[in-house]
Amino acid sequence: MLDGAEVAKHKTRESCWIVVDNRVYDVTTFLHRHPGGGAVLLRQGGADATAEFSKVHPLDYVKELGEGSDLGPLDPKTTASLNTPKPIPSQEVVNTDELPHVSLCVTTGDFEAPAKRVLPHRFWTYVSGSANSGLSFKVNVDDWDRIRFRPRVLRNVGAVDMSRSVLGHKSPYPFYFTAIGTLGNIHPGAEPEAVRACVRKGVHQVISTASTKTPEETMDSYRREQSLVGDASPTRLFFQLYLPTDREKAIALIKRAKAAGYKGIWLTVDTPVLGKRTADRRLQAIEAASMGLEQDEAPIRPPGSENSFAPAFGGRPVPGQLSPHTVWEDLKWIKGAFDGPLVLKGIQCAEDAKLAMEYGCDGILLSNHGGRQLHSAPSALMTLLEIRTYCPEVMDRMEVYVDGGLKDGADVLKAICLGATAVGVGRSYIYALAAYGSRGMERCTDILAEELATAMKLLGITSLDQARPEMVNANALLNEMWRPGANQLRILSHL
Ligand code: HEM
Ligand SMILES: Cc1cc2nc3c(=O)[nH]c(=O)nc-3n(C[C@H](O)[C@H](O)[C@H](O)COP(=O)(O)O)c2cc1C
Repeated sequence: MLDGAEVAKHKTRESCWIVVDNRVYDVTTFLHRHPGGGAVLLRQGGADATAEFSKVHPLDYVKELGEGSDLGPLDPKTTASLNTPKPIPSQEVVNTDELPHVSLCVTTGDFEAPAKRVLPHRFWTYVSGSANSGLSFKVNVDDWDRIRFRPRVLRNVGAVDMSRSVLGHKSPYPFYFTAIGTLGNIHPGAEPEAVRACVRKGVHQVISTASTKTPEETMDSYRREQSLVGDASPTRLFFQLYLPTDREKAIALIKRAKAAGYKGIWLTVDTPVLGKRTADRRLQAIEAASMGLEQDEAPIRPPGSENSFAPAFGGRPVPGQLSPHTVWEDLKWIKGAFDGPLVLKGIQCAEDAKLAMEYGCDGILLSNHGGRQLHSAPSALMTLLEIRTYCPEVMDRMEVYVDGGLKDGADVLKAICLGATAVGVGRSYIYALAAYGSRGMERCTDILAEELATAMKLLGITSLDQARPEMVNANALLNEMWRPGANQLRILSHL
């Protein structure tokens, strides 16, 4: 057993030990390899890193360090001799009692300021950040405003039914909460906190590969919440897949998701490499410099290089997490391994929508990853219009979801009028979760639902199957939509 006083001596870049879950690890050589940067580990030198570690990683992540790093158990009588971790600069802790009461949030946008107050600066940067100059993020938000309704009146709109099915699973709402990595950064309750709100409200949720909790832990929390409501909630969990490079590992992960009870795989296809997350990059450079590690950091990597990918965090590689080499043919074994519904997350043009249909996918999510991947990418609405124009048959054969920039429940109705099955909500629920936990997410659901119900009545419909394309004017976007030349038109029709 190791003595806390001995462990405390190892707090420099020459020798750095940390304690995780009562065991001591030598992370000296890992400082330069840690995808989250060396600075975050060095701050924990000679200290108990368990609390910080479990905010970000499942506990079994320590195994990745390899055997030589595990120095053995800490003598529990000597914990008082350990160092206190060095605080992260600007990580001001805000008492959540100081936030405005959740009832004062009357639009989903109202969650943003409390979230910014409560989140440590680095996590706020991670959540709110986008790629390059932020243009892809901006079009997501702006394009919702560029579609207008064409309402009908005098139609007896006393009661409305907002329900929709996603992959055969009915929800009271045509929106769901989309995949967001490491919810433990956003709220200490992590994925289980979010799942609680979903189950209580009947909203479906897509759980990220890059979650804080393991797929099984999250599913256990789902079952616990279901048992509290007599298994009556229509909520279902789906699994977002970042495909690991190693096929055996990929199949094992897919089978784990299946065995745990996830109802479908949402394979993220817009992330063969990580986009340039500008704000994260700046912050990482500042943090590294503050710990004297600037010469060890290599934040700028050649684009597309092997494994230059970090699923959840800005611009650092995670070896083995995802291969940039995945191709359409791979869908066959992925589908085979899951033996259930497959959705492609991140389709951004009509040609790929058509290919997804031909490869037998059950759904596509039109998305530019919340503006975090390709610079100058199209909004989901623009892609939806392209599909309606050039390959409308896709919409009869697959479910089509959209996400990006959704803040108002009334906007959900625009996508439904244009033929979308459902709309994914990202940052809007994340800000609510950050500031108010599951209570905030429930409030976020109520806000979106109320806005949607009101919009339906004012548009003159009482159920979503009455929503029609002629109930919206999308001409502003259609005017800017990509038009094929004669050759490309031929290619499109032969795809
Ligand atoms: C000991 C073994 C560790 C391993 C194998 C490991 C691995 C990783 C990986 C793969 C990532 C990228 C994101 C992901 O896939 O989750 C990451 C990010 C991160 N890790 Fe670790 N980690 C370890 C220890 C720690 C510890 C002890 C802490 C906290 C004190 C920590 C804090 C973080 C943070 C904050 C990030 C996000 C970085 C950012 O925002 O840029 N990690 N780590
Ligand atoms: C903080 C954050 C983390 C995300 N993590 C993931 C992820 O782990 N996997 C994934 O497929 N998409 C991820 N996304 C993209 C979302 O699933 C979704 O496409 C996007 O957030 C929708 O845009 P919105 O946030 O403007 O609603 C993430 C987005 C954000 C903002």
